[in-house]
Amino acid sequence: MNVTGNGIKLSRTGPIGVFDSGYGGLTILKQIRQTMPEYDFFYLGDNARTPYGTRSFQVVYEYTLQCVVKLFEMGCPLVILACNTASAKALRTIQQIDLPRIDASRRVLGIIRPTVESIGAMTNTRHVGLLATPGTVKSLSYPLEINKLFPDIVVTGEACPIWVPLVESGESRSDGADFFVKRHVENLLSKDSLIDTVILGCTHYPLLLDKIRKYVPDGIRVVSQGEYVASSLKEYMKRHPDMDARCTKNRECSYFTTESVETFLPNASVFLNETVKVESISL
Ligand code: DGL
Repeated sequence: MNVTGNGIKLSRTGPIGVFDSGYGGLTILKQIRQTMPEYDFFYLGDNARTPYGTRSFQVVYEYTLQCVVKLFEMGCPLVILACNTASAKALRTIQQIDLPRIDASRRVLGIIRPTVESIGAMTNTRHVGLLATPGTVKSLSYPLEINKLFPDIVVTGEACPIWVPLVESGESRSDGADFFVKRHVENLLSKDSLIDTVILGCTHYPLLLDKIRKYVPDGIRVVSQGEYVASSLKEYMKRHPDMDARCTKNRECSYFTTESVETFLPNASVFLNETVKVESISL
């Protein structure tokens, strides 16, 4: 076994790692597995330290890097940050500074870019709304990335700090959740009356989709990221046959959490609509 200076095993092949601060990335994993069923996956939820969305740049970066390194150690050649907050605050530094130092042959991809690429064809008014965590909104990653590709699009953000805790505590279908969903949707739309497309820029929010649709007027499109991330990853594999060859394909998926198994399981079943096996790990 080869070990780098940073203690990472140089395994050539392994499952695709999918990381999120908690359960939200399961909405992305589900779509990826539907689109790419033959691949193997390791899902890692940092449930012990969730939520990331209200944490500082430095803390999100450090936590995310630890989880990426863990997935590398577990053998993943490729890791998807299935978390907008981590993609906004940690992806670039990990790609530019950490990967060359740790193992330049591995890859880490985020989920903002694939979402952004699909937006140009969706909006007619060229006014787009973003519902996301405070961290993602504050990072300005969405407007910056969107304007790189589509300089004519105006992006307006609304931070929804309470939505992730609502989902994580199993309240996404409760009547009480309506109050907070309505408030943030109305806040967003009152900032720009020309918005015709709303991005759900947090992987937890598809769990609130029914309620979000209830308060978004007909004619305004609500965009969940999963399908765009999944099709973009499939395309990535076609463009990178070397990486594709390194990703094992036995249709297996294993789940890992930094919290206890007892805490992870009931909530994960809400996201996945099935019961899965999970292992608790420390970083
Ligand atoms: N799921 C994460 C995202 O997409 C947010 C969850 C959190 O705040 O930890 O931004």
